[in-house]
Formats: sequence, C-alpha cells, structure tokens
Amino acid sequence: MGIKIDTVIDLLNFYKALGFKEIPNDFLKSLLKNSNAKSVKTESLLNSTVNIQSKKNNENLSKISIYNDDFSVSFGHEKNSAIEKLNQEIKECKKCPLSNSRKNPVCGQGNINAKLIFIGEAPGIDEDLQGIPFVGEAGKLLTSLIEKMGFNRQDVYITNTVKCHPPGNREPFESEIEICFDYLKREIEIVSPKVIMTLGKVATYALMEMKSKLKEIKISKIRGNVFFYRKIPVIPTFHPAYLLRNRKDKWLTWEDAQEALRRLK
Ligand code: URA
Ligand code: SF4
Repeated sequence: MGIKIDTVIDLLNFYKALGFKEIPNDFLKSLLKNSNAKSVKTESLLNSTVNIQSKKNNENLSKISIYNDDFSVSFGHEKNSAIEKLNQEIKECKKCPLSNSRKNPVCGQGNINAKLIFIGEAPGIDEDLQGIPFVGEAGKLLTSLIEKMGFNRQDVYITNTVKCHPPGNREPFESEIEICFDYLKREIEIVSPKVIMTLGKVATYALMEMKSKLKEIKISKIRGNVFFYRKIPVIPTFHPAYLLRNRKDKWLTWEDAQEALRRLK
C-alpha cells in the first residue's frame, strides 16, 4: 500500500494553489520513498495535506469533549496570567498603523482551554465598536456553525489575525499581518489547541507563516486540505462573510467542520 494517487494530486494542487511553480527535489524524493512504504503516515510529509472531501461524515458529534484533557489546574493559573498579559499588550499596542484608526483593539475571546480555535481576518465595524470578535452578521453565522458542531461559542476560542479594524473594512496588508502575528502566535501557544480552523485567506496566509504572497492564496483551492502549524492541524475554510454572500458554499464549510470534529476525537 502506498500513498493514494488522489492524495498526491491534492498535495501538488495545494502547493500550486499557493503559487509554487516547482517542487523541491527533496520533497519529491520523500513522496516517492513513502509511496513504496507499507503504510504511509501522510502527516509526516513536509507540511503534508490530506484530502478530506471523501471521508464519511456520520460520526456522533455530541461525544466530543471540547476541552484539553491534559489541562491541569496548576497550569491553568499560568494560562490565565499569560492571556491577561497578552491582552493587556494588545490593548496598548501601537505597533502598526491600524492603531491610529481603530476604536477598540479586539482581543481573542472564549475558553483558553479549548481544543478548537477559530481564526478570522480582522475586526469589522461592529467588532471595532464593541471590542469583541465576531459579533456582527458574520459572527452570527460563525456562532451557528459552532453550535451545529455541537459546542457553545464560549467553549471554543475565537480570535483574529490582526486585532484592529482596518479602515474602510479593507483587507489587512501583509506588513500589518506580519507585525501583529506575534500576538496570534502567543495566543495559540497559550491555548495550545488540538485543531485550528482558519476562516478565509488572511488567517490561512498567517498560519502558513507568510511563506507565499497573500494575493496568491485562493481559499477555494486550499480548503478541503489540512496543513500543519507547529504540528497542530490547520483546517482552512471560507470566511463567514464570504458565506453570507455565497450561501451555496456553506456545505463545503460544513465538510471542513466535520474534518475538525474527526480530529478532535
Ligand atoms: N470578520 C472577521 O474576520 N473577524 C471578526 O471579528 C468579524 C468579522
Ligand atoms: Fe498592534 Fe496588531 Fe493592532 Fe497593529 S493590528 S496596532 S500590531 S494589535
């Protein structure tokens, strides 16, 4: 048994979607080597990806615990102070020009022991006013996805790639994403989730550690695949604001959510 050809094609398409024109020799060698192996741990391939479209989706969702089992009370105290310190830094942050136009910086929200993190793009107008992530129309859709997955909103952790609202609701610039990334990195370290879902291309770009160009990322091509950020599986999916305009693609996000649920088990 080797790697399924479909998986290899998905993998190559994934890199193509990222804008790669060639694949490194070492990567190809590792693919070929693994294709002769008796059983292949696809995850061990260089940031490898797996196609998730064809998997069954009849699991009993309600059995999944959303909290980290290995979380201990003593570490809980450290986690609380680490997140408080981080949020305080965000509230005072002036590291990028978005600090000039924001009304309120928007820190992450939810359970710091959650096994699942959702990462959006940037606070919108409602979030800027309230200082809370995903409270507008897109937020309502995200909340209904979380509930459909069998959780409450306060059980998961929700955050954004950049913590301040870009003027005119524009997409954050690569430079802003890069400057703000340290906060997201620290949030992920503190929560240490089992699974991350990135909502849209900005969050996906950030968790790919900004290795390609933002404009080369096509979420419609990347979604359906899993990649890894510091060994944590990342499931990219559409941004809820996109789904509000393209309701027919909601079922694809539901497929992605089911992959997340499988990995939470
Ligand atoms: N869109 C986002 O990406 N984040 C929010 O918090 C709200 C809308
Ligand atoms: Fe600081 Fe991030 Fe806000 Fe920029 S977007 S000011 S880096 S918190």
